[in-house]
Amino acid sequence: MGSLLSISDIKDDVKYILDLAVKIKAGEMEEKPLEGKTLAMIFQKSSTRTRVSFDVGMYQLGGRAIFLSSNDLQMGRGEPISDTAKVLSRFVDGIMIRAIKHSDVEELAKYSDVPVISGLTDLEHPCQALADMLTVKEHLGDWKGHKICFVGDGNNVCNSLLLIAPLLGMDMSVACPKGYEPNEDILMTAREYADENGTEIIVSDDIGVALQDVDVVYTDVWVSMGDEAEEAQRKIDLSPFQVNSDLMSIANDGAIFMHCLPAIRGQEVSADVIDSEKSVVYDEAENRMHAQKAVLYYYMKD
Ligand code: CP
Ligand code: NVA
Repeated sequence: MGSLLSISDIKDDVKYILDLAVKIKAGEMEEKPLEGKTLAMIFQKSSTRTRVSFDVGMYQLGGRAIFLSSNDLQMGRGEPISDTAKVLSRFVDGIMIRAIKHSDVEELAKYSDVPVISGLTDLEHPCQALADMLTVKEHLGDWKGHKICFVGDGNNVCNSLLLIAPLLGMDMSVACPKGYEPNEDILMTAREYADENGTEIIVSDDIGVALQDVDVVYTDVWVSMGDEAEEAQRKIDLSPFQVNSDLMSIANDGAIFMHCLPAIRGQEVSADVIDSEKSVVYDEAENRMHAQKAVLYYYMKD
């Protein structure tokens, strides 16, 4: 059974899950495979895409989802995560959680008898990375032989992309200021995956270097949920890393622009890039649902 807290949890099955997502999106799978199943969705942070895509995805698979704001749960008043996990396991067939701390999700998964699926933590955003790779394949035809560059804050989204890119045969670079590098342990694991798969990972504060031979330019907000206290400093440090048309012109001709959303036009990305023909951000958002339906099927189908 297991849980999906990190891309590393599905290291050997990433391609299988993405193939499943392609079939599900094409309508080639059985109808309502999760009939009678329930997903609990715990949110400690705001969400538009994750909440709606999991909810609609469960419905389309024949099951249902229950939205649980952590403010309303007893967990928000101090009930132990372990008790929450054990009790929810008696009612539902899977738990999706968007949490402030990754360690809380590890705790939940440790005591849960049903699969736990991360919908973002401070460390990773695995479902986003799966949807992103589905989108890359749709637009570039394949992953192998292509390179993705993440520009900006080496955050949760960047961490999951670092793990998934080499598993699918993609090269990856990260362009970030000093002090905004991705998580060290993740980077070490990603480099192992890259060695195993013959791909390359580069982290550089030189945008010109990181954007060489790039087919996908990806960015995310400068101030992630939970980083609000550092907002002023982050805007100063990250401003040279705004993805604008000058920066896009360094990437390969035909390079696409990606962003997990929500985006702030005029900060991490200029409006003329995110609203241009190079941008595939709405395909990415839609693919959240298709990729997650594959994840739900993989973890919750008997
Ligand atoms: N990309 C993403 O996870 O969006 P939400 O925060 O709206 O769920
Ligand atoms: N890095 C962002 C992603 C939002 C989907 C955050 O954590 O707020």
